[in-house]
Amino acid sequence: MKNDLPIGVFDSGIGGLTVVKEIMKRLPHERIIYFGDTARVPYGNKSRDTVITYCRQIMRFLLGDGEPKVKAVVVACNTASALALDTIAKDSPVPVTGVVGPGAKAAIEATKNGRIGVIATESTIKSGIYNKVISESGRGFEVYGKACPLFVHLVEEGWADTKIAAEVAEVYLDELKNKGIDSLVLGCTHYPLLKKTIGNVMGDGVTLVNPALETAKSLEETLLKLGLCCSGNGIPEHRFYVSDGEEKFRDFANSILDSVHLETADVTRVVMGAEV
Ligand code: DGL
Repeated sequence: MKNDLPIGVFDSGIGGLTVVKEIMKRLPHERIIYFGDTARVPYGNKSRDTVITYCRQIMRFLLGDGEPKVKAVVVACNTASALALDTIAKDSPVPVTGVVGPGAKAAIEATKNGRIGVIATESTIKSGIYNKVISESGRGFEVYGKACPLFVHLVEEGWADTKIAAEVAEVYLDELKNKGIDSLVLGCTHYPLLKKTIGNVMGDGVTLVNPALETAKSLEETLLKLGLCCSGNGIPEHRFYVSDGEEKFRDFANSILDSVHLETADVTRVVMGAEV
């Protein structure tokens, strides 16, 4: 049955697991097929055309040939959501949810003074997407963006809570501290893993907004609206695919996902095709 198909989730690497974690909490019986493009991370410094090509390849992998093998897709990557969501959603036979719309919504709900900071990859900041989506709400918000490219590498290296991470965060976030923002969107799915470090720099007066929570909610709404919620209530068998470094990925996933423990057989390496 279509309802019992899994949900496809993808990111450039391990960051999308922060979204998977929220989906698992909110929709504990839904089966997840995750793809992390660990061979080609980061996406955040790549052009729109390149990111669209990668996303099309991943969509083809998740959907398969013929009848779709997943009932919905979550683009658990802000960069891919900013640069490729419209294109891939247009061609997709199943609903596609990104993280930017939900992240912007959560920021609007969180701010009291209307001054919102957004930290993300270079490509996401350059795209101006958060600014656009937040301004479209029509309430005169001030949005301040800052690219923090090294954050992705610190997370991928497992250095999220180190002195080096704290120093890098001080340098990147300095200019945002003078803007009077009261909320800060963690506009890259890797960044929630640096929440403690970022929170220490920004202080208690700034609410850190993790788009993953709102994304899981938005996915649930889509499934409900389309009658696609799964019928079972057992423990789902999730599968994880990466384009490189399956062991490192597995260890990392086990350190952040509370509800599952991945064994070697749960993570498989696949090579993404060159042609689209
Ligand atoms: N985690 C991704 C994002 O949300 C991208 C990080 C990267 O590949 O640069 O933007």
